[in-house]
Amino acid sequence: MTRFTVNNQPIEYKLDPATPLLWALRDASNLTGTKYGCGTGHCGACIVDVDGAAVKSCMVTIAAIEGSFVTTIEGLSRERAHPLQLAFIAANVPQCGFCIPGVIMAAAVLLKRDGNPGEDAIKAAITNICRCGVYPRLIDAIQRAGR
Ligand code: FES
Repeated sequence: MTRFTVNNQPIEYKLDPATPLLWALRDASNLTGTKYGCGTGHCGACIVDVDGAAVKSCMVTIAAIEGSFVTTIEGLSRERAHPLQLAFIAANVPQCGFCIPGVIMAAAVLLKRDGNPGEDAIKAAITNICRCGVYPRLIDAIQRAGR
């Protein structure tokens, strides 16, 4: 049994402790906003917030985050959209949209640390791969959300 908190809900997972967090979230908790892109730690589609850090959930086992607090894209906003979500809509960022939850989660972690990041700080923090190439728009949106 592995215990940690997901989107403010304490959960006990009866899974192999070596299960990647990504699959616990998607398959056991039905939180499918967290995406499987590469499974090798390169693309960032699977990024969630673990104890305030942007973590590639395909690369971490559930045993490694026992007792942690995890926030997924579903938990980022409850009653109203998060400022990042509003800014992504305003800047018309998504094309196919597959990578966007991971980008928003990485950006949310960045904005907690730096409320008004410059382009260089955004480029350093957001290393997610977007096959549609919407990088200029997502940088614009993250800056809008920070203002
Ligand atoms: Fe985890 Fe690509 S699916 S980094």
